[in-house]
Amino acid sequence: MNISIIGSGYVGLVSGACFAELGNQVVCADNDKKKINGLKKGIVPIYEPGLQELITNNLKNKRLKFTSSIKDAVKAGEVIFIAVGTPALENGEADLTGIENVARNIAQNMDGYRLIVEKSTVPVETCVWIKKTIATYIKDKHKFDVVSNPEFLREGSAINDFNHSDRIVLGVESAKAKQIMTDLYQPLNRPILITNIKSAELIKHASNAFLATKISFINALSRICDRVGADVKEVAQGMGLDNRIGRHFLHAGIGYGGSCFPKDTEAFITIADKLGYDFQILKAVRNTNDEQKRYVLQKIKDSLWIIKDKTIAVLGLAFKPNTDDLRNSSSIDLINALAQDGARIKVYDPKAMEKAKRVLKDVTFCKNPYQAASNADCLIVATEWNEFKELDFRKLKKRLKRALIVDGRNIYDPKLLKKLGFTYIGIGRGNE
Ligand code: UGA
Repeated sequence: MNISIIGSGYVGLVSGACFAELGNQVVCADNDKKKINGLKKGIVPIYEPGLQELITNNLKNKRLKFTSSIKDAVKAGEVIFIAVGTPALENGEADLTGIENVARNIAQNMDGYRLIVEKSTVPVETCVWIKKTIATYIKDKHKFDVVSNPEFLREGSAINDFNHSDRIVLGVESAKAKQIMTDLYQPLNRPILITNIKSAELIKHASNAFLATKISFINALSRICDRVGADVKEVAQGMGLDNRIGRHFLHAGIGYGGSCFPKDTEAFITIADKLGYDFQILKAVRNTNDEQKRYVLQKIKDSLWIIKDKTIAVLGLAFKPNTDDLRNSSSIDLINALAQDGARIKVYDPKAMEKAKRVLKDVTFCKNPYQAASNADCLIVATEWNEFKELDFRKLKKRLKRALIVDGRNIYDPKLLKKLGFTYIGIGRGNE
């Protein structure tokens, strides 16, 4: 099929590359000319495992093209995906300016039937507005359909998620749209759920909000575990073995971050408010997440007593492993709070160092975990990169001024570390 994707961020690039890999002819568009010029040469602006190879291969075999002209993209694709950003406005609402702009551009440049697929995370009823906008600005009376096809990719495993998704959700209104979309996804051989458009739109926000709820629940539980001397990892394991609960997204830590959960929970609260529903559960989820960040900070303060002039090593800057994305990273929030209290911060991350140099000032960037630990009063693990799971603790201990580890992601065995002579502080491991 001829597909165009408007918006070449995480979702647009990954989907574009994967659709091309499936044998489709794909044009990815973005109004950031610098980004597009780089992509034309195979320079991928984000780190996502496997993406570079996919883009290089499909550029070479000419199944994947890049353009900064929306007009060209609209002409090229019978199926047009909208994958532009929907950043949060100050009041938490999603900014839909980009979506409206793309809808107008599509309307003005269509030269035949088009299937417009909404993939960005948007409030329920956005597709109604896309339809109205296209109908208002359309030049000739070409036919079109609008589909909601929410995305469930996780950064760090996005290509695998695309190819092996638990479900593909298609909110459709016409038989033609349903046929084209099922044909497009059929090669993946994954379960396809056909719904009405508004249900599909809601599934996206509901899923992210529910996952965030699981995380906040387990983080709240970690506080109780610390108070009574229980281990939240064991509690989560015991809960997760119940199939009705499931073991995923029950890892307590320093709070969720990233470009999705914080923004999407906020947006969903606002959507509900506008619809006249006070979404109290979700407000508690958000507040618990904010609180968890403060709780971890307090744990560090309780151990170090005075933060001023202490040297603190932080391992992990990205909001999760296998990405260089720093958006709403709890690690960055923690570093800023510690720096504000006068700590000297040394950091290391396997992939996010370059991006971090743009957002972190007055910190020392180190080449590896041991250099970061050198002469530090405390070592914090803020992102659970595999590299940090296999550290040489004896070497680490020699480097540290004080053998204190704050395991913000609960990746270590407290007993082992204590045996090696460390003071171990986990999250909900029974040591408030
Ligand atoms: C999330 C969803 O998982 C995807 O399904 C969705 O497509 C995506 O948002 C989106 O809306 O675009 P992502 O933000 O890439 O994906 O990453 P997650 O793996 O969901 O992690 C989000 C945050 O939750 C991270 O900060 C992570 O450290 C934290 N987390 C996750 C926990 O603290 N505990 C857990 O058990 C799981």
